[in-house]
Amino acid sequence: MKRLTVITICAGLAMAASGAAVADGAATYKEACQACHMTGAAGAPKLGDKEAWKARIATGKDALYASSIQGKGAMPAKGGRADLSDDVIKAAVDYMVAQSK
Ligand code: HEC
Repeated sequence: MKRLTVITICAGLAMAASGAAVADGAATYKEACQACHMTGAAGAPKLGDKEAWKARIATGKDALYASSIQGKGAMPAKGGRADLSDDVIKAAVDYMVAQSK
């Protein structure tokens, strides 16, 4: 019985983890990007500000990925989070773009 409980908990954790993977972009945004992108600090385009994002989105996702990974203007490379992988940054960009158009 105890063993069954452990298995049940593990299955629950696995499901929670896969759910987190889907929401990764949002989680990364909260952790690494919103400090600037929620407030517009240093001229960062705010999340949800369609006007601020329109011209940027028009340059295409690849351009946005590239500037996020390499940095642009007052934004440091990867928002200052060199520890994050390119894919994690791309997911955060996808999330931000989806919220802002
Ligand atoms: C230190 C503040 C800061 C942090 C942290 C930050 N950004 Fe930025 N971000 C900026 C600023 C400022 C700009 C505007 C740069 C410009 O156009 O000169 C910008 C622009 C962008 C753009 C538009 C790029 C373009 O080509 O127009 C994207 C996409 C972006 N940030 C994504 C992110 C992501 C994803 C994160 C988190 C991993 C993040 N930013 C974290 C300040 C920040």
